[in-house]
Amino acid sequence: MDQYAVVGNPIAHSKSPSIHAHFAQQTGQQMVYSTLLGDEVDFEAQVRDFFSKGGKGLNITVPFKERAFAMCDILSKRAKQAGAVNTLLMGKNGDLFGDNTDGVGMVRDITQNHGQSLKDKRILLIGAGGAVRGVLEPLLNEQPESVIIANRTVEKAQALAEHFDCLASSFEALQGDFDVIINGTSASLSGHLPPLKDELIGKQTWCYDMMYGKERTIFLQWAYERGVTGADGLGMLVGQAAESFYLWRQVRPETASLVDQMRQQMK
Ligand code: ATR
Repeated sequence: MDQYAVVGNPIAHSKSPSIHAHFAQQTGQQMVYSTLLGDEVDFEAQVRDFFSKGGKGLNITVPFKERAFAMCDILSKRAKQAGAVNTLLMGKNGDLFGDNTDGVGMVRDITQNHGQSLKDKRILLIGAGGAVRGVLEPLLNEQPESVIIANRTVEKAQALAEHFDCLASSFEALQGDFDVIINGTSASLSGHLPPLKDELIGKQTWCYDMMYGKERTIFLQWAYERGVTGADGLGMLVGQAAESFYLWRQVRPETASLVDQMRQQMK
């Protein structure tokens, strides 16, 4: 049977095997998807070994996405722009192909599962690390009116803004409200909220957190307390997996029902 896996460190709690098992069942694909604990020293050798034994595809997660990027023979445009790879497959001639499905997974979750168009919208993107870099190209493809990147370390926001031809700001200098606010900082994970002013939220604002959790994230709490709604990144997790699945199997699974099911199981 065709073999797939996700490589990361740590990896034991990855939801990817159950997500892909669900997709395989839903679409009638014969495949096995397992976890591989990535080795800080031998990661590249592990990847080569997996494919030399006939493995069909890998997902790559923290902290190996940049190393996977560096070892690819061919990169998709969005992987090049992200500077990181979360999906690998081997071409017939033995070339290693790398793609990044994180951004498109997020955009499809926002636009399809949550019905929020990004076209002509004024978007505030919070954070300037790998997570934000990974979503910028697919986000800009939606033709928003503007994208401003705000970050604690403003130089990092400026570097990204220059590369992707959008705007950068400190939190303090932001003015007025936004149509869509996306949190891509890791601050939520430790229960911290960047210093966001109340005036960033208008009646129309919709918020998205790339993080997710059993409880509403601290960023979404901030939004709801100010009278607007939004969604967390559980659908992004399922969405990026669906895009990887499509690359490998040329079948696009349906995602909304799985997100609902996973949400129920988290309760
Ligand atoms: P990732 O790959 O998950 O994006 P990262 O590259 O370490 O991780 O980036 C983390 C992001 O969260 C950065 O934008 C970081 O801000 P700095 O660039 O100023 O470090 C942001 N971040 C983390 N903790 C934060 C906090 N407590 N308040 C505000 N921003 C925070």
